[in-house]
Amino acid sequence: MSEAPARVADEIRSATAQLAAAGIDSARRDADWLMAHVLGCDPGRLIVIDTIDDADLREFRAAVDQRARRIPLQHIVGTAAFGPLELAVGPGVFIPRPETEYLLEWASSAAGSMSAPVRIVDLCSGSGALAIALATIVESARVTAVEMDDAALKWLRRNVSDAPSEVGERLEVVAADVTDAAQIAGVIPAGSISIVVTNPPYVPLRSETGPEVAHDPARAVFGGDDGMSVIVPMVPVIASMLSVGGLVGIEHDDTTSDAVVDCLRAHGAFDEVTAHTDLAGRPRFVTARRIGAGASRGMPDRRP
Ligand SMILES: C[S@@+](CC[C@H](N)C(=O)[O-])C[C@H]1O[C@@H](n2cnc3c(N)ncnc32)[C@H](O)[C@@H]1O
Repeated sequence: MSEAPARVADEIRSATAQLAAAGIDSARRDADWLMAHVLGCDPGRLIVIDTIDDADLREFRAAVDQRARRIPLQHIVGTAAFGPLELAVGPGVFIPRPETEYLLEWASSAAGSMSAPVRIVDLCSGSGALAIALATIVESARVTAVEMDDAALKWLRRNVSDAPSEVGERLEVVAADVTDAAQIAGVIPAGSISIVVTNPPYVPLRSETGPEVAHDPARAVFGGDDGMSVIVPMVPVIASMLSVGGLVGIEHDDTTSDAVVDCLRAHGAFDEVTAHTDLAGRPRFVTARRIGAGASRGMPDRRP
């Protein structure tokens, strides 16, 4: 290390160059976040910090080397931002993505126009991003998070137990396969749910994905050849748990909006099937409303 203390601004500049050379588009932002993480401050405060001591400098350079090897920023700092939350994440669990906040926004607004108590289920919950954010935002909601993967369940339970008690006491974690109708019927009463949200694995198998995606569990990312291998069997399970008038929002790959719309329409238990795009105009999620008796193809209506 150098004799004179290293300067924060110089270190960020050289880290930015290293990360840009590694192909990272957000090189400057990532360098700022890593420096802020090491110094234990908000990135906005870096401008007023002049120097960095040797121990912190070693830690910062090691973190930059990891990021240059395309290890996700969130795995290096140990957390991911999602809506109002800072969630613990690491190997074994999917890193929540900012685009899922569109689904969060839709569900929060839908819940706001329902009379309490609102019962919400988050299928394929991963770190608990949607479930915990909804329990935080919708103060009257009781939220069930369903996840089948053991490693993801550990992160999910940790995030639920880290939530403030007034949020955590309205959250329940269920270990189950969302495509197994009998298993889900055993834990979530038919016709009992106001809103279902889900960000399932949906990337078609042969899609190109960036190097960071290799750090997400494959089971969390890929949805079979067409991206629909979890969504298709999940739709009748969703129809069963929703109350009449209840709503569902399903995030999907940007190539499968029509397939999700067709799947919900073909089932027969839904109307108001609507495709939603993000601000860039990319198809992002589909919503629908559960309709009443006799409408579900081949399914008994199981309202209580
Ligand atoms: C794309 S990740 C989404 C995680 C979280 N909802 C989010 O938005 O960050 C999908 C999650 O679904 C889980 N999963 C995959 N297949 C499942 C199944 N059949 N039943 C329950 N969970 C499943 C994976 O383990 C993973 O945690």
